[in-house]
Parts: sequence; structure tokens; C-alpha cells
Amino acid sequence: APTLRNLMPANVRIGAAVDGRLYAADARYRDTLTSDFNAVTPENALKWPILQPEPGRYDWTASDELIELARANGQAVYGHTLVWHSSVPSWVSESWSRERLRSVLREHVQTTVTRYRGKIWAWDVVNEVLAEDGKLRDSIWLRGLGPTYIADAFRWAHEADPDARLFINDYGVEGRSRKADGLFKLVRELRAQGVPVHGVGFQAHLRAGTAPNDATGNLRRFAALGVSVAITELDVRIALPVSTEKLLDQALLYQHMLRACLAVPTCESFTVWGFTDASSWITSHYPGYGAACLYDSDMKPKPARDALLHEL
Ligand code: XIL
Repeated sequence: APTLRNLMPANVRIGAAVDGRLYAADARYRDTLTSDFNAVTPENALKWPILQPEPGRYDWTASDELIELARANGQAVYGHTLVWHSSVPSWVSESWSRERLRSVLREHVQTTVTRYRGKIWAWDVVNEVLAEDGKLRDSIWLRGLGPTYIADAFRWAHEADPDARLFINDYGVEGRSRKADGLFKLVRELRAQGVPVHGVGFQAHLRAGTAPNDATGNLRRFAALGVSVAITELDVRIALPVSTEKLLDQALLYQHMLRACLAVPTCESFTVWGFTDASSWITSHYPGYGAACLYDSDMKPKPARDALLHEL
């Protein structure tokens, strides 16, 4: 039977965010993951509080295991994420001096990227740095270090692995919006300053029955800046209860986003944020919504998965 992995054009990776424990322990999860996807993004295993629960004590157990499994199954690994306001270890203190905050951030970026040098093809260096109005989002990093923390993080990551593709990633920017305009300006400025930003990641956490405003044109204008683009966290949540009509709306939106990616020659990867409703983050983070993935909770393919196959 045809699979997403087999049908995807060779220049575009097809990925899924994964839970390493399920990958290791659940045969049904693993079989679907390895037959449909040639890339994975650790859903949480590379986040800072997991990697460094206490100052100076790194714990690579979960990330090493997941990355080894992916490699054993011929899957590329997308690294998520080095700098994110919402995932800072609790021992990092807002009251530290600028120098101390900066050196802790630098150490984290350098150590993490160096450890997986050659094993992670791309990194979300910074995640969600913009606010809805297109300005930089308030965060411990912006308050403590000022806007230059972004360029610094890219330079540190690039030094640690010159071959890794370095992305800036955000949500609410897949269509044209004020936030997307802000991201566009930021990427243009960073590139003009020679900062090693190689790609823009569009999360695309979407809701069935909606559509981003001109996703294709939006991806194209970023590509014209000389960067790659990627759909990094696609899911399409449904307002419960599920109906046949909503599943079809969902399928159309998945297909729409794949079409936008395939329309842009430098769209390098298309990643869904979880592939099965059995373990999607939507249930716990969006009360009243669910069924956001390509496979249902019994690991049966949904219309959305057929729609992607059909598009390929
Ligand atoms: C989410 C994970 O899916 C959850 O398991 C975790 O509890 C919180 O983070 N944007 C991102 C991802 O960049 O890191 C988030 O992942 C989903 C939203």
C-alpha cells in the first residue's frame, strides 16, 4: 500500500512529532511512524528543563534513546527547541545579572547542539519569539538580554554545528497576518546582519473549518528572502463532537498546507505535531477540541491521511 513516506518528493522530509517512550514500547505506534514518516521531531525530549533539570546536570537519556531509534529506522531528526520562553528550567533566575543569564543560555545552546552534531539536521534555534502584533514577545530573554539574544543564539548554534540548518519557528504566521509581517521583517533584518538563519518554521496549529490567509503566497515571500521554509507542527483540531463533515474540513486543511509546502521549491519539510489522536497534545491543551491528527485513536487512517496521499 502507498505510504506518505514513499510518495513524498525526495527533497521534502515528511515528519511527525514523537514521544520516545511510545516509539520504544508501542509496536503499533512504531509501525505507523516508521512506514509513513522519514523524519521525527522529539515532541518534548529536547526541551531545556528535560535536558538540564538541575544546574550543571544534563540528562540525555530520553533524547539519546529517541534519536537512536530514529536513526535505526532511517529517519532524520529535527531538533526542537533551543530557546523558548515557555520552556526554561526553574533554576534559571530572572534576578541574575545580564552576564550570568547570557552565559547560561550560551552554555545550553553550545552543549546541546554539540552533543548532536551530525545527528540533527535542523534546529528550531528560537521558538515563538514574536507577539501577536509582530513585535518581539516579552520573555525572560528579552527582558534580561535585549533583542540581541536572538542573533546570539543563532551564532552559538552555528559555531557548534556549522552543517545544521537553523530555523526560527512560530505559530500564527502560516498565513499573512501582522505577526507574519513582523516575522518577515525580523528574518530580513537578521539575514542583512549576516546572522546564520537558514529557515523559517511555520507551526500551523490549525482549527478545522478555518484557513490561513494565502499560505502559499506567504511561504513564497519568506523563501524569496533566501531561506528555506518548513511546516513544523501541523495539526488540525476539531471542535468536539467529531462529525463526517468536520473530518472532511480537516482533510482539506491538511491537504491545503501540503499543497502550499509543495508549491515552494525551498520547502524542506512537512511535519505533523503527533500523528495519532491517541497521544496528541490537543486534548490536554485545548478543552473541547480533539481528533487533530492523521490517524484516529485506534490507529486507523482518517480522511486527512487519504487527502495527503491523494495530493502526492
Ligand atoms: C507541546 C507538547 O506537545 C506538549 O506535550 C507539552 O506539554 C507542551 O508543549 N508549540 C511548540 C511545541 O513549539 O513545543 C508545543 O509542544 C506545542 C506548541
